[in-house]
Amino acid sequence: MEQTSGTELTAQARLAEDVRRDLGAVPKRLRPHYLYDALGSKLFEAICELPDYRITRAECRLLSDHAYEILAGFELPSAVVELGCGSGEKLALVVEPWVVSGRPLAIELIDVSDTALQMARRTLSRFPGLTVSLHEATYEDGLAEVARSREPGCGLLVAFLGSNIGNLDPDAAVAFLGDIRGVLEPGDRLLLGADLVKPERDLILAYDDPLGVTAAFNKNLLVRLNLDLGADFDLEQFAHRAVWNPAASRIEMHLESLSAQTVRVADADLRVQFAVGESIWTESSYKYRMDDLVQMGATAGFGVRDQWVEPEAQFAATVFEAR
Ligand code: AVI
Repeated sequence: MEQTSGTELTAQARLAEDVRRDLGAVPKRLRPHYLYDALGSKLFEAICELPDYRITRAECRLLSDHAYEILAGFELPSAVVELGCGSGEKLALVVEPWVVSGRPLAIELIDVSDTALQMARRTLSRFPGLTVSLHEATYEDGLAEVARSREPGCGLLVAFLGSNIGNLDPDAAVAFLGDIRGVLEPGDRLLLGADLVKPERDLILAYDDPLGVTAAFNKNLLVRLNLDLGADFDLEQFAHRAVWNPAASRIEMHLESLSAQTVRVADADLRVQFAVGESIWTESSYKYRMDDLVQMGATAGFGVRDQWVEPEAQFAATVFEAR
């Protein structure tokens, strides 16, 4: 296995190590960020267009309806930081009324993908008054960089959108909000987009759509392991499952084995046995009540400044203020 110096692993070696550990665990699992290779990212973009996956459209409605309030009352000058910038279209909705009114704003985009950063920069280039800085980094490293280069007296708004928080388990979610709070000053803000609990039928349709796009997104993880680690997963022998777990308030995505089978993952030196019906747990997507969000923010050191709900999709945007 290819390896760089010291303890630093190549991306492929890290994938092999994670797969060896996580497919050997009970229950079997794979880390959700591995869903996002080049094809997985395109499939996720397609998911966002699906009639039954309403998160993206609902959030865009809230951001465009409340763009003015999100930054209102903020000290001048100010900067907006987005964690995981995607195409930059959501941030464009937030900053538009401010840029149009001639207010100088600095934008700091943090993403591990240079492709996403470049796309977001292109989107935001339609506002000539914006200064846009790119940070190709993990959220933690990017935030630390932003905090280090911050101008004294400059207010910060950190945006974490798309209910990405929901892909973290509750303890990790609160710890992550705490990390964000750690780089902020009192009065700085966090804009958090989070999906709310809704009827089970709506949740299942959102995560097991009739067109099969989410199934393709999930099964692409096996395609990735076949290509990147020389695995021999037979895609016909696994089915996409989306399960609502009400006790944990999360949708779980699984890949269920349709037969008793052994799969070889050559580059991870691994043979994995599956019983019929046994599954690989690939993602959790937590759904919240408004109180959960207030509580999570409070535990991490934030108070709520504003909170809006998109009523049809049941999606919330919360503006927290660092205490
Ligand atoms: C990126 N994340 C917030 C999506 C979600 O809704 O949990 C990922 C996704 N998985 C299946 N559909 C969408």
